[in-house]
Amino acid sequence: MKSIQINKFGGPEVLVIQDVQIGKPGPKEVLIKNLSIGLNFIDVYHRTGLYPIPLPSGIGLEACGVIEEVGSEVKLFKVGDRVAHASMPIGAYSEKQIMPEEKLVSVPNDVSDEVASCVTLKGITAEYLLHRAYPLKKGDKVLYHAAAGGLGQILCPWANALGAEVIGTVGSKIKEEIAKKNGCHHVINYSEKNFVEEVERIVGKNGIDVVYDGVGIKTFKGSIETLKIRGMMVAFGNASGYVDTIDVKKDINAKGLFFTRPSIAHYTIKRDELVESAKKVFEAVVSKKFKIEISKKYSLKDAAQAHKDLEARLLTGPAVIIP
Ligand SMILES: NC(=O)c1ccc[n+]([C@@H]2O[C@H](COP(=O)([O-])OP(=O)(O)OC[C@H]3O[C@@H](n4cnc5c(N)ncnc54)[C@H](OP(=O)(O)O)[C@@H]3O)[C@@H](O)[C@H]2O)c1
Repeated sequence: MKSIQINKFGGPEVLVIQDVQIGKPGPKEVLIKNLSIGLNFIDVYHRTGLYPIPLPSGIGLEACGVIEEVGSEVKLFKVGDRVAHASMPIGAYSEKQIMPEEKLVSVPNDVSDEVASCVTLKGITAEYLLHRAYPLKKGDKVLYHAAAGGLGQILCPWANALGAEVIGTVGSKIKEEIAKKNGCHHVINYSEKNFVEEVERIVGKNGIDVVYDGVGIKTFKGSIETLKIRGMMVAFGNASGYVDTIDVKKDINAKGLFFTRPSIAHYTIKRDELVESAKKVFEAVVSKKFKIEISKKYSLKDAAQAHKDLEARLLTGPAVIIP
């Protein structure tokens, strides 16, 4: 089967399509034919080595597919079931994949393959950020960076539906309208304006209850400036670069902030957590708390182009790879 492999860390050019022998599923594993694959910024971190993985390796952590073969001890699923997943083992950019059954969730009939492959990793992330990392309350003032991005298209409308006042930042003119469509009450183009001053104008000085910051080094200090006393800083990504040092006295102690640097893995440790979170996400899709509009579809051989577009900030919503 065809699979995207990386043999060394580097730019998009290290993503190469290869013929790979897939083998047979182990006793508690299943063989999945992938129907649609999610593109995520974490794939870039794996490719560059920011999040090191043993090489050579496949790449990709999110897909929806149909089970073609089950191992001898598989109890939860059967051949023909449509499933999605958002976790290790890495290797979703492939025509087929072997996964442990405990990492899979069933996909409801009214959720398409493409939507499922956008809302499993990104949707579960939005669910745990809004409900568990910081349980969002009606009336909370939220700052979300990159509000026209893949996760932004899910998290911003969901935060809006929970009754929060949502301020979204974006990096270009064209994304301003998209962020508004994504449920942001206020949109700031941080390529043109100082977002700290703009946030202050909207909610007052130290007015934000929670910042969800997936942009990282470029926005981290400013995000902290916008927070209220005892506000919550949720640093969950590094699209512009990794924040590897925090000045506890200046950054956290000055306003008695709460700070977390979570990952989806911390919120899906037990199978119950994974299943419950996915259920909430699929219910939110079906009840239209957010609407998935796929910004671009790529073929497997164009995975390098997909990474180029993602890193060049050209995508305006979730994108998928169709194997
Ligand atoms: N911790 C977790 O559990 C978890 C899980 C999923 C995703 N994440 C994180 O969530 C964030 C969003 O993920 P996503 O896959 O949906 O990506 P995305 O938001 O579609 O793309 C990243 C966005 O970041 C903004 N950005 C700002 N500076 C950038 C730079 N120097 N280079 C590239 N992008 C830059 C761009 O939007 P503008 O042009 O509008 O600035 C870009 O579109 C990422 O940081 C990702 O790692 C974390």
